Amino acid sequence: MKVCVLYDSVTGNTRMLAEVIEKKYAALLVENPAEADVVFLGSWTDKGSFSEKMKEQAEKIQGKKVFIFGTCGFGGNPEYYERLFERAAALLDESNTVIGHYYCQGKMPMAVKERYVSMLREHPEDKKLEASIQNFEEALSHPDPEDLERLSELLDGLELD
Ligand SMILES: Cc1cc2nc3c(=O)[nH]c(=O)nc-3n(C[C@H](O)[C@H](O)[C@H](O)COP(=O)(O)O)c2cc1C
Repeated sequence: MKVCVLYDSVTGNTRMLAEVIEKKYAALLVENPAEADVVFLGSWTDKGSFSEKMKEQAEKIQGKKVFIFGTCGFGGNPEYYERLFERAAALLDESNTVIGHYYCQGKMPMAVKERYVSMLREHPEDKKLEASIQNFEEALSHPDPEDLERLSELLDGLELD
């Protein structure tokens, strides 16, 4: 059984998840996805989907068992995580089998909050902006140890073969 972990992480959140996976399967890791039986595909969320870089990678994978993982700024809504997972899974060739998925919230750059705050100054009545600022604050601590532990436990229950 060989495992390959492919991911894109700009600010390190998704890398934290990738490191949990790499540690779990340290003895099975290969660098080339073509040699792997199982490919873990991870991405940060860019405009509601995998990053462009990971979209390209995902579309190339054939005949593998695939586990999809990622982080996103918008948290606290399991349905959103499901939607992100389904969009990522839809990138895959039909010859692959999806064996699992995991998403959690990931902190965003401070510039995002600054943009919300200046927009709120222009539109103080905008409740959506207030909610976005609250979500930004909540995201700051993620991925947290519980997010990583939940992934680790999910992997413990995962059948690779
Ligand atoms: C340009 C840009 C677009 C983003 N788009 C979304 C999005 O559509 N939905 C979302 O929930 N988070 C979005 N985010 C937040 C990131 O996906 C999130 O902070 C992620 O954890 C970053 O992962 P990384 O540290 O692995 O790069 C966006 C961030 C940036 C910089």
